[in-house]
Amino acid sequence: MRAIITGAGHFVPEQRLTNADLEQMVDTDDEWIMSRTGIRERRILEKNKGLSYMAAKAAQMILDESGLSADEIDVIIVATSTPDMMIPSAAALVQEKLNAANCWGFDLNAGCTGFIYALATGSQFIEAGKYRKVMVIGGDKMSSILNYGDRNTCVIFGDGAGAVLLEPSEDETLGIRDFILRMDGSGHSYLNVPAGGSLFPASYETVEKKMHCIFQDGKTVFKNAVTGMAEVSAKLLERNNLRGKDIKLLIPHQANIRIIDSVAKKLGLEPEQIMVNIQNYGNTTAGTIPLAMSEAYHKKMMFRGDRILVSAFGAGFTWGSLLLVWAMD
Ligand code: COA
Repeated sequence: MRAIITGAGHFVPEQRLTNADLEQMVDTDDEWIMSRTGIRERRILEKNKGLSYMAAKAAQMILDESGLSADEIDVIIVATSTPDMMIPSAAALVQEKLNAANCWGFDLNAGCTGFIYALATGSQFIEAGKYRKVMVIGGDKMSSILNYGDRNTCVIFGDGAGAVLLEPSEDETLGIRDFILRMDGSGHSYLNVPAGGSLFPASYETVEKKMHCIFQDGKTVFKNAVTGMAEVSAKLLERNNLRGKDIKLLIPHQANIRIIDSVAKKLGLEPEQIMVNIQNYGNTTAGTIPLAMSEAYHKKMMFRGDRILVSAFGAGFTWGSLLLVWAMD
């Protein structure tokens, strides 16, 4: 039994934050942001809405396109670092919004690698034969944890979400084929949101010191991202007897165009084999891969039988790559 993707959806908010807008907020400019990151603009969700709003919209797109009833969903997995609140899970809030009456679910936090972890996890529920419809969602409202006075981080991130539906198939040639997932917690100090958890609960001091905002040592993250993503991707291809030319599309985490280009070069991929939409949305953390996957599908960039490679690196450190064969026309 294979887990195949039978639906893909996404949602981004209407409001755009351009490089020109950011020039008014911090000491930066369009030329620096474009040349160092590849980002032109990002989307920002309204203040009174949380991550579950975008996650539910992305999942609803799949239901609308397939005609599937929300009652048929067995499991909802939400990969995110920015749930609406500490308790309950974003998955519970998505369940309510979709009115999915017969499911259970949970959140999964692996930073920017969250969607790949969630896709791998969801595929195991299908392959075990226990569940038939698993909604895997990835998304983040990064604007809720950004310090718009810190030019090192506020130019990089944006808000957005994407989703896929996993179902079983008897066709062994399709679906999730293989994955390599890794974690190295010694990287925790280079990319984190220090406060708001049990170590530093909210206090006057944590708010004043902006400890509820994301901190990043960009250079260290950059280096580790290139090495980590390239290494697991190469290993995954090798153990499946594949070369770069056998891949129709690499759908990489959209963190920085220079990271994407370096990884693609190491794998020997041509530009037309790489899905890039970072210019429009920036880094939406757990949202980038399902958002790019849904766009690639709806733009008819991949068809049934095409080999797709996804790869990401994020907070933890976490990283991983997953190989799948696209099952939709
Ligand atoms: N505008 C203008 N200058 C900026 C800037 C901005 N928005 N942000 C940083 N700079 C400055 C720095 O202060 C530094 O100046 P200094 O040399 O006077 O100190 C200079 O630009 C170079 O900074 P540096 O950090 O070396 O730039 P970089 O080439 O490494 O690019 C990032 C910075 C953040 C774009 C890059 O490191 C990156 O993308 N890292 C990984 C991000 C990531 O993927 N994170 C998500 C998890 S996967």
